[in-house]
Order: sequence, then C-alpha cells, then structure tokens
Amino acid sequence: MNLKLKVWRQKNRQDKGKMVDYSANDINEHMSFLEMLDVVNESLIKKGEEPIAFDHDCREGICGTCSLTINGIPHGPERATTACQLHMRHFKDGDTIYIEPWRAKAFPVIKDLIVDRSAFDRIIQVGGFVAVNTGGAPDANALPIPKDDAETAFDAAACIGCGACVAACKNASAMLFVSAKVGHLAMLPQGQVERERRVLQMVRAMDDAGFGNCTNYYECEAVCPKEIKVSFIAKMNREYAKALRAG
Ligand code: SF4
Ligand code: FES
Repeated sequence: MNLKLKVWRQKNRQDKGKMVDYSANDINEHMSFLEMLDVVNESLIKKGEEPIAFDHDCREGICGTCSLTINGIPHGPERATTACQLHMRHFKDGDTIYIEPWRAKAFPVIKDLIVDRSAFDRIIQVGGFVAVNTGGAPDANALPIPKDDAETAFDAAACIGCGACVAACKNASAMLFVSAKVGHLAMLPQGQVERERRVLQMVRAMDDAGFGNCTNYYECEAVCPKEIKVSFIAKMNREYAKALRAG
C-alpha cells in the first residue's frame, strides 16, 4: 500500500517544529507501524536527508518507549495496543496519516517524535519501590496474599510507563500512571511500610513536574495500551486522603 504521511519534525527543544509531508510507498500490510517508519527512514537516508527521530526499544509492547500520536490518538486507533504493535493492515491504501509526539508541557520534545519523559522517572524515584531486606527467596506460601488483592496489584503492575495517558488528557494529567504505581504497591504486604510516605511523595513529584489534575474525562483509560482502569485514580485519592490524615 502507498500512504501519505504528515510528520512532526523538530530539530531540538528550542526549534518551533512543523508538520512535513512524506510518502510511504510499497508498505506491506503485515509491517508494524514502526517498521513502516523504518522504510521511510531508509529512503530518506538514501536521499541524504535527515531520518525521522522516534523512540523505540522492545517493539513488543513492554518497554513503553514508542511514544507516537497517530491521527490524534496516542498509540493510534487500536485499543490496548502500543504503537510498536500496531499493524499497517489497520490502514487503507491511499490513507493520510498524521504522526506527532506526545503533547504535554511536562514532556518536552527532544527531537521530532521523541519526548523527554524523565518527569516519570522523578516520580518513580520518590516512591516506586519497596525498601525491604529481600534476603533469599521466601517460600511462596509464607506470605499469603488474598487472590483479589494479588490480581488487582498485577493489573496495576501492567503499566509500562509509556505516558499515553498524559498525552490523551486535556489537562496532561499523570494520575492514571501514578495511581497504577501507588495502587500496585499499596495492595501488597511488602508495600505497607512506606505506604503513606509513598503516595504523598509521588503526588508531590507529579505536581512539581507540571502535570495537570484529573477532571474525569477518562481519555487516559481509553488510550492506555495496558487497560489500566480509572478506578485506580479513585483508590489513589483515598490513599492520599488517609495519608494526609495520618501525617
Ligand atoms: S497508565 Fe497506561 S497509558 Fe499511562 S503510562 Fe501506564 S501504561 Fe501508559
Ligand atoms: S517499543 Fe517497547 S512498547 Fe513499543
């Protein structure tokens, strides 16, 4: 198939950036979206032009780095799918596709489609861990965890930190991401020691990074490739209120 692309090009943080037209020709429908961009980049390199910079690593929906907004939707039109797992068969011959980076003040563009997501790292650094002596691996049945709690913790732990939730939100809120991290550890015995400190510090780091607040549009849940539910935001708000009272 042949496609028309409109791609955001921006030399660096200071550059204003603009949409640039490209053609993607002879694209196989079995290619992933990133493989399609690889083909475009090969042709740009052959012509002596600067290839399009985009982030990627695992290309199998695990690392969360493929931060592309495709036709206005973070990670593109398929639900529960990262941009790297999106296949070209979801597009039609002759389509025009708009490709942009995540748009949020807290995620400044580094180059073209690559944004700086170190704000997420700063949030994780203040609370996304448990500080316990691990020692040897305990017996699996030595620390009983109710099945529902284990499943809820696992659902939250599926968050890959991609930032699509922020990019989709009109307030650029990071509450789905932060609530997944807070919710994951709050459900498990290992997370209890730092439970109150964790939620207070992570929420403060989130606010300091310039993310907005949640006003219940649920766009975050709609674009999340790991289907993290907004109910985690409600859980985090309860955790936060309890921690404030305890402090
Ligand atoms: S909550 Fe979903 S959209 Fe947000 S960072 Fe985690 S995986 Fe990505
Ligand atoms: S490249 Fe790792 S999730 Fe897409």
